Amino acid sequence: MTTHTPHTPDDTDLESMSREELAVLGMRLDGVEVLKEADRWPVKGTRAEKRAERGVASWFAIAGLSGLGFLAVFLFWPWEYKPPGTDEHLVYLLYTPMLGITLGLSVFAVGIGVIAYAKKLLPDETSVQARHGGPSPEVDRRTMAAELLVTGERSGIARRSLIKRSAGFGLGVMGLGVGVFSLGGLIKNPWKGGDQAALWTTGWAPATPGEKVYLRRDTGDPHDVALVRPEDLDAGSMETVFPFRESERDDEEALIRGLRRADSPVMLIRLRPGTETVQRKGFEDHHYGDYWAFSKVCTHLGCPTSLFEQQTNRILCPCHQSQFDATQYGRPIFGPATRALPQLPIEVDDEGYFVARSDFGEAVGPGFWERRS
Ligand code: FES
Repeated sequence: MTTHTPHTPDDTDLESMSREELAVLGMRLDGVEVLKEADRWPVKGTRAEKRAERGVASWFAIAGLSGLGFLAVFLFWPWEYKPPGTDEHLVYLLYTPMLGITLGLSVFAVGIGVIAYAKKLLPDETSVQARHGGPSPEVDRRTMAAELLVTGERSGIARRSLIKRSAGFGLGVMGLGVGVFSLGGLIKNPWKGGDQAALWTTGWAPATPGEKVYLRRDTGDPHDVALVRPEDLDAGSMETVFPFRESERDDEEALIRGLRRADSPVMLIRLRPGTETVQRKGFEDHHYGDYWAFSKVCTHLGCPTSLFEQQTNRILCPCHQSQFDATQYGRPIFGPATRALPQLPIEVDDEGYFVARSDFGEAVGPGFWERRS
């Protein structure tokens, strides 16, 4: 078998060639050989073709409707936590599955629609191409662009307005859903409420002025309120504590929320006696003797900084290995975190229990826009 090296046209030749001629030339230059080429619908507009077109369009319509469902769930589904035993608990449990089902169905239907279009409506073509290496010269780039345009024309998409509209609907709504999903936090305005907005306050904020907020441990039963006294901790130990208010003792939902709120966990650390410490300016009265209370939410990306190393007094975040020095007001000394762990101001009340004097003096967790410190 002999192969012919095609003549490479110069710029003047290229200018005079039609798009179809450029496409044919491009295939020849690329060593593409068309073995079989047949229009799936040589007679246009038959009932069978329309049926195939409707089949493809229905997948894109399903994608669009699922995308709308996803948007509706994301924007309107009651997602707030409801405890077991309440009527709304099942609805709360279904929030995340419904997001996954609607978005998953939307993506799935777009995929099936594209595959069905390729199988039922695109021309049936088989081509082979020899591989070659090296960068593409100008002629290749010009001819490739022409090939793509011609392929687009031959795919028949231009005259299939039903498919164009349904695909636009399916992909458009799906894209809109992804966009809203990304921007949802902004649309919901997390700063609503000014100084009392969720980003500025935590579960340690008193519900009413002057109300005591105790430090409690989690025993696994929200009704089993175990308050913490200084003598409960050995020197050099750490305990995770959560907020508790007397007004919430019989309120199961509030008790569970106190244990589950992402911004509530606090590490109560008792340093060994005689440990030298450095006070943070403006926070000098936040600790109680050797007892220091730090937010457990890492200031890097919000993982729980659950590890306290007794010998070095370092708090470790297992996510990206940030280390904070408990003797230096939780200052970061290693890793990607750049801010000290926020300190909860604590004291011991008349009955000998630890209480928080107020909420944290700064926002907990990672940085975000408009953070004040
Ligand atoms: Fe803690 Fe990254 S989240 S180090």
